[in-house]
Amino acid sequence: MSENFEPRILAYCCQWCSYAAADLAGAMRLQYPANVRIIRVPCTGRIDILHMLRAFEDGADGVFLSGCLLDDCHYKTGNYKATRRVAYAKQLLAQTGLDPGRLEMFYNSSAMGPQFAQTCRDFVGRVRELGPAWTEQPQKATA
Ligand code: FES
Repeated sequence: MSENFEPRILAYCCQWCSYAAADLAGAMRLQYPANVRIIRVPCTGRIDILHMLRAFEDGADGVFLSGCLLDDCHYKTGNYKATRRVAYAKQLLAQTGLDPGRLEMFYNSSAMGPQFAQTCRDFVGRVRELGPAWTEQPQKATA
């Protein structure tokens, strides 16, 4: 693995809690790696397995979902559904030969800016250890 490897990380963050936590981390001027690109979503329950897998197909080295704390989802059970989907998508990743650790589900309330920044640092570190997801550009499915 290259020492200069900088993983590309995609984060789906629910707008009510985790996106607000990312905002708070920024307002508190907390450092977290620029490797993490955040996509704001209404709820992690909106994220389908295809959204997770497509991110890898498009070249991400790691993907995480960050939702509200369990039992605090604004749509009641969205983060529970997301948790189950992430668990299933991990199995699919393993079948394709990718380490399931490249995909994770986290929970951060809007007041957890420091924890969100730490989540990003830890996850980037984990994926950096794993190395690039693809040694060559993945083939995109046609259809
Ligand atoms: Fe935040 Fe559902 S609204 S995870």
